[in-house]
Amino acid sequence: MANILCIGAGYVGGPTMAMIAKHCPEHRITVVDVSAKRIEQWNSENLPIYEPGLLEVVQEVRGRNMFFSTEIALGIEEADMIFVSINTPTKTYGEGAGRGTDLQYWEQVARAILSNSKKKNVIVVEKSTLPVRAAAAMARILHSESNGVHFEVISNPEFLAEGTAIKDLTEPDRVLIGGRSNESGHKACKTLADLYAHWVPREKILLANVWSSELSKLFANAMLAQRISSINSITALCEKTGADISEVSHAIGMDKRIGPHFLQASVGFGGSCFRKDILHLAYLCEHYGLPEVAEYWDSVVSMNDYQINRFFKNILTSQFSTLANKKMAILGFAFKPDTGDTRDTPALPICRKLLEERASISISDPQALDNARFELEGVEGEIHYEQDPYLACQGAHSLLLITHWQEFRQLDYQRIFDSMAKPAFIFDGRNFLDHQHLFEIGFNVFPLGKPALSHLQ
Ligand code: UDX
Ligand code: UDX
Repeated sequence: MANILCIGAGYVGGPTMAMIAKHCPEHRITVVDVSAKRIEQWNSENLPIYEPGLLEVVQEVRGRNMFFSTEIALGIEEADMIFVSINTPTKTYGEGAGRGTDLQYWEQVARAILSNSKKKNVIVVEKSTLPVRAAAAMARILHSESNGVHFEVISNPEFLAEGTAIKDLTEPDRVLIGGRSNESGHKACKTLADLYAHWVPREKILLANVWSSELSKLFANAMLAQRISSINSITALCEKTGADISEVSHAIGMDKRIGPHFLQASVGFGGSCFRKDILHLAYLCEHYGLPEVAEYWDSVVSMNDYQINRFFKNILTSQFSTLANKKMAILGFAFKPDTGDTRDTPALPICRKLLEERASISISDPQALDNARFELEGVEGEIHYEQDPYLACQGAHSLLLITHWQEFRQLDYQRIFDSMAKPAFIFDGRNFLDHQHLFEIGFNVFPLGKPALSHLQ
């Protein structure tokens, strides 16, 4: 039996450790966090994050072999293996501001591990997405003074996506483990691989060198985001030429070499990872004297900003270039469905722009209203939050679909149309609704990358 600790009880640390606890009942798993509130929530029925299926797993393992605590030093003292799952935000100050990763908390954690570890051998697992060579830097800190502990730092990036975390953890496409190519490195990687092998087929557990592992994580996110920016760039061309993005996406996705995933046109990608990791990848390239490579990846982010802006401009121009005193219903504020997470959601810049035009906004989202309130705190203008989407749409001039929650497809759009100001507009930022049906009801429908269906001349 081993004592496994995870520092950071967030979207990654919580679900990942719950899954390990479920499948490895012989080990004791403790998750610690600096936030007492978060830990309190993990210890309640009201978990700090919304993730389908998570509560059931937590209820199964909590108090059995999984524990949530704020006692970081004690946790480190007892640990044989320490996962570091803290957030690694973009730096907002000094050198690399707006691009590089802010590593101050990560370094503090490394120092806390150094001063509190007591076991003879401790494996430190880098779970957070970090700059390439971060594991080596962590090892340097851990070996900066001798406390009799042998530390081995390995990289094990997490590929789960929010909203499908339990499914992704249960059946991962692969588990990637990077370590040093010496005996101690191999041994640490094997210990971690054995843990995953409780439920993941061995052939899906990949071993790599530590830098390949770190870079694969950054690059996987960059590639996924690049596909979205590529399809979104073509929505603009479709709108000019009369081509239909859904037909184009379907046609290219049937090519086995391209594949059908991540070709869904959208108002723009969001979430805590894509923008941050691409900016960081570009910054790393610059740092290593590769400005052309940096520029290439930067363009994925600029295309995303362009798409968000284009969506907003379409709303403005199709409504006679004025939004002042018009009510805009926003359906969905989370960055994707099945999560309450609003980090880097495209809904935020869109709401800000609408408010700058002096529109009033009324936001409805099944899980993200608290976070929406937090994101829009202090922003000037008339903002309403409605759990009930029908109330959000009442009297509105336009309806903006930003997040494709399943329940938004099931709404009674005739009822919504009847309650709205006329002419009534729908801007579908996900090509999610039945456009022909909406048009027949009387809406002016503006999809992405396909002709608008308008009753106006
Ligand atoms: C994850 C990954 O770990 C990160 O690398 C990735 O780039 C973004 O997603 P996530 O789990 O989503 O991070 O972050 P978050 O939900 O913010 O959780 C991080 C937790 O770490 C927070 O609860 C925070 O309180 C905690 N933390 C942070 C500590 O306990 N100690 C610290 O020093 C810093
Ligand atoms: C992503 C990666 O998928 C995951 O492997 C990594 O561990 C963390 O970052 P996440 O951000 O949780 O996961 O969600 P994801 O499903 O990748 O969606 C990211 C954004 O892209 C969302 O805003 C989503 O709506 C958008 N998206 C996704 C599209 O616009 N079109 C698509 O075809 C797919």
